[in-house]
Amino acid sequence: MWPNNRFIKLCGIELPIIQAPMAGSALSDMVVAVSQAGGLGSLACALLSVENARKELESIRRRTSRPINANFFCHQPPREDHAREINWRGRLDAYYIQLQVDSNTSIPQSARAPFDEEMCDLVMKFHPEVVSFHFGLPDKNLLLRIRKSGAKILSSATSVDEARWLEDQGCDAIIAQGFEAGGHRGMFLTEDVSTQVGTMALVPQVVDAVKVPVIAAGGIADARGILAAFALGAAAVQIGTAYLRCPEAQISPLYRQALKDAKDNETAITNVFTGRPARAILNRFIREVGPMSDLAPEFPLAAATLAPLRAKSELAGSADFTSLWSGQSARLSRELPAADLTKQLAAETLKNLTLLQTKA
Ligand SMILES: Cc1cc2nc3c(=O)[nH]c(=O)nc-3n(C[C@H](O)[C@H](O)[C@H](O)COP(=O)(O)O)c2cc1C
Repeated sequence: MWPNNRFIKLCGIELPIIQAPMAGSALSDMVVAVSQAGGLGSLACALLSVENARKELESIRRRTSRPINANFFCHQPPREDHAREINWRGRLDAYYIQLQVDSNTSIPQSARAPFDEEMCDLVMKFHPEVVSFHFGLPDKNLLLRIRKSGAKILSSATSVDEARWLEDQGCDAIIAQGFEAGGHRGMFLTEDVSTQVGTMALVPQVVDAVKVPVIAAGGIADARGILAAFALGAAAVQIGTAYLRCPEAQISPLYRQALKDAKDNETAITNVFTGRPARAILNRFIREVGPMSDLAPEFPLAAATLAPLRAKSELAGSADFTSLWSGQSARLSRELPAADLTKQLAAETLKNLTLLQTKA
């Protein structure tokens, strides 16, 4: 039925649609809805404590027996750089004064800790059928433990070099993340954002370079995008931004409104929110301090200094300092429950495929 069955067979799912893991924006309700609908629901664990990740996984396993994906960041922990912290704080001083935020305010932050033994224990306990990573892969021992659990291992590549590297390390499938994608760039062999590749160019080149199935990600938000991904040789798609408008997404009304209003040319790659390049809807903070700043401390340290500004401005009903992660196709997204969205995307793709074949 699908032009390429490799990924759905690999994971034992019905539909070649992965709901992208979205740290801070989607939890068990979204995962269960998508997996029950036949796609692959993903739990992003990067912003969860071990205890909260356990709770979410327990809740998911209670509510569905379908395959699920657990996702983790695996960046290098940041080096301490006091001087850089001071410069960054200095850059934000004027905002602290303007918003009348006490300079000693600090807001507890999630550690955004890379995947470790404790999270690996959770994987062994809950046995997600798929485990995916962002920013490369964890160290070999952790990877071996996951492999032994029987989970299929995925990670994001933003270039052919990264895709080949991931395949060499034993990934079972590769997510080709194009420049259009919302959220953090998964890039790990380069820091040069200016050479990042769009989905249309990246997917077929990765397909040519590796033997494992390739999943297309970035800017895909409707059946036309999914069909195009298959035409480029992908075996599935990973969709993030389009799922953010589902009621299951745990985002603020401000964020929801921004997604509804965002035009094609109103996102940018920026490092000012966390210290790592990520695509977000333009707002005051990106315009005035970014989009890329040499002053931003290493990931994820930039976020802590910003947090009090964000909290104060959100209280006043403004998203001026909020990271509104979004891909370039927010405009194509629809407000639908996640299960309905998954089923509709699949049905419309198959319908378009038939129409194309008839025309041919
Ligand atoms: C709000 C948001 C949060 C994200 N968080 C993660 C994450 O925690 N882990 C991950 O692997 N990818 C994350 N991503 C990137 C997605 O996996 C995927 O590459 C991207 O959403 C695809 O582009 P699209 O948003 O245009 O569909 C995130 C994306 C968004 C929009």
